[in-house]
Amino acid sequence: MSRIVEKYAELPKPLRKPLWQWWHRTMNKYDSENAANFMNYGYESLNGDPRLKLVNGDETDRYCIQLYDHVVNRADLKGKKVLEVGSGRGGGASYISRYFKPESYIGMDISESSIAFCNNHYKVDGLSFKHGIAEKLPFEDNTFDFVVNVESARCYSDMQAFFNEVYRVLKDDGKLLIADMIYPKELEEFNARIARSKFRKQRETNISKNVVTALEKDSERREHLIDTKAPKILRKSFKTFAGTLGTSRYNNFADGTFQYWSFELAK
Ligand SMILES: C[S@@+](CC[C@H](N)C(=O)[O-])C[C@H]1O[C@@H](n2cnc3c(N)ncnc32)[C@H](O)[C@@H]1O
Repeated sequence: MSRIVEKYAELPKPLRKPLWQWWHRTMNKYDSENAANFMNYGYESLNGDPRLKLVNGDETDRYCIQLYDHVVNRADLKGKKVLEVGSGRGGGASYISRYFKPESYIGMDISESSIAFCNNHYKVDGLSFKHGIAEKLPFEDNTFDFVVNVESARCYSDMQAFFNEVYRVLKDDGKLLIADMIYPKELEEFNARIARSKFRKQRETNISKNVVTALEKDSERREHLIDTKAPKILRKSFKTFAGTLGTSRYNNFADGTFQYWSFELAK
């Protein structure tokens, strides 16, 4: 099971959707108190930036929130229409809606159960969640000012279709704000995909060290959550997925086998 989780983004394409459906249903089942509202590896500043001011219990999710903040904080989202593709448990959508005040924020995910959970759990003005797949977005052309995508694109069955679809639903001056893990040997193809879908790259940042530092600081919380919520048989797999210290996922980030990048792409 751990091996499947470790390689979840490289599984044969037909298996990816069912795996995500199972994953979300399992989380809904074991996390009845809704303690896990993020599924990303987090981000920590390395250059002494002032600490992000967080309110209302958001401190618990500081590192996962900081990843979202890193992705969007140069953009002016206030009063804008924003779509997030792969919104997962909705924590990032809630953070951006509450702190950046877009006019509307739609979180979209392939998992019906995570969408039902999010629509029930979050009550924030302008925030809603909708089921859909990244490769065929259920929206009209030229609809959004920004599309946000955090740690999700890597597991799509057709990443080029995703980029083309985001380009289609963005307004003419719209932007895709994206962060994900990438093997160094895949960077060239990733850039080729961006170019093929006609995006202009305005910023690219290797944030691998920020992610490793966040994992180190957040590992104890992640382990505790898994040890208290997940059944014993699934704990090892969940810890690998969560990148806690000592897992192959953490080691791969720490030794550079796997990198983590963020991009700002303009239509
Ligand atoms: C690692 S999780 C990240 C979730 C969230 N962005 C976060 O940072 O907490 C990846 C998410 O992408 C979703 N996903 C996977 N394939 C998808 C697809 N083809 N279309 C839309 N969402 C997809 C999964 O269901 C999952 O919620």
